[in-house]
Amino acid sequence: MRRAKIVGLGAYAPKRILTNKDLERMVQTSDEWIVQRTGIRERHIVDESEATSDLAVRAAQQALERAGVEPEEVDFIVVGTTCGDMAFPSTANLVQHRLGCRTAGSADIYAACTGSIYSLSIGAQYIQTGKYRTVLAIGAEALSRISDFTDRSTCILFGDAAGAAVLRPSDDASGILDTDLYSDGQYWDLLYQPAGGSRLPASHETVEQRLHYAKMKGSEVFKVAVRMVGESAVRILERNGFKPEDVDLFIPHQANLRIIEAAMKRLGFPMDRVVVNIDRYGNTGSASVYVALEEAWSLGRVRPGDLLLLAAFGGGLTWGAALIRW
Ligand code: ACO
Repeated sequence: MRRAKIVGLGAYAPKRILTNKDLERMVQTSDEWIVQRTGIRERHIVDESEATSDLAVRAAQQALERAGVEPEEVDFIVVGTTCGDMAFPSTANLVQHRLGCRTAGSADIYAACTGSIYSLSIGAQYIQTGKYRTVLAIGAEALSRISDFTDRSTCILFGDAAGAAVLRPSDDASGILDTDLYSDGQYWDLLYQPAGGSRLPASHETVEQRLHYAKMKGSEVFKVAVRMVGESAVRILERNGFKPEDVDLFIPHQANLRIIEAAMKRLGFPMDRVVVNIDRYGNTGSASVYVALEEAWSLGRVRPGDLLLLAAFGGGLTWGAALIRW
């Protein structure tokens, strides 16, 4: 089997910025509390005219341009998202049309914030089996649309963004070495959007009770997340014969700086080899690992031959990791 390789990266965040000071005027919170408890200083959020697919298209266009790949060459598009433009058609379907990707297959994957690792893993499988030559793997979110700006325990966390990777078969030792995907549905009610699905369809009551917004038991997610990120990182490294010290750069899901620091402490991994951009983006769900990877690459922190470890967790709960030789 041939490895899949990332041949182009793209990222996009909406222009509008919501700072902690702005949030101080909306809910009872403070810049100091948010920075200390989460590491977040500001986040980008969509304006009235923008939706998830708009962000996805911008990130994908940049990734395709950098890869030197024409939209007509794309065989399959997979979008990780928590809040697509609508229940159906899929956001990937809208992206396929807007990019001009002929009639390429397209599908959304719902794994909450692990949508980055899930979309990358699923995209990579199609390359590895030889089914497709060019796959577009995207993570895109407009989480501000499902954030309750009267609930200080959630609205301070989330931001909007998209990231994209063009995958092609590798002809050398570089590429996606391995991926791991996990889920445990017993934790479904730690983080979920109660209404709008077949369990609780939209009604006047659901709107009045604000049930179309994300609900979260934050401190419980926190504890499980630290354990999951650590365990999945150790497992994928061991299976591939590596130790934490072999990793050049760790790119974790950006949910909370304290979660990242606690997970790295557990692993004994130094923070100077960890990519952190949560201060400027907040938690951008499925987009976060792509956006952090793109930023690290743009800044020259990713060099040919580097071993990269990607890890994420999210509602569901879901979690997973990926190992890449750049
Ligand atoms: N401003 C000021 N005070 C606040 C705020 C706020 N924005 N939010 C909560 N508080 C208060 C609480 O009311 C509580 O007050 P009390 O002690 O008087 O009851 C106090 O701060 C402590 O609350 P905790 O919830 O215990 O605070 P914690 O340190 O756990 O931080 C946080 C909360 C930031 C949500 C943290 O638990 C966290 O990041 N959890 C993980 C969340 C996460 O990663 N979710 C995303 C998963 S990925 C996905 O799928 C989208």
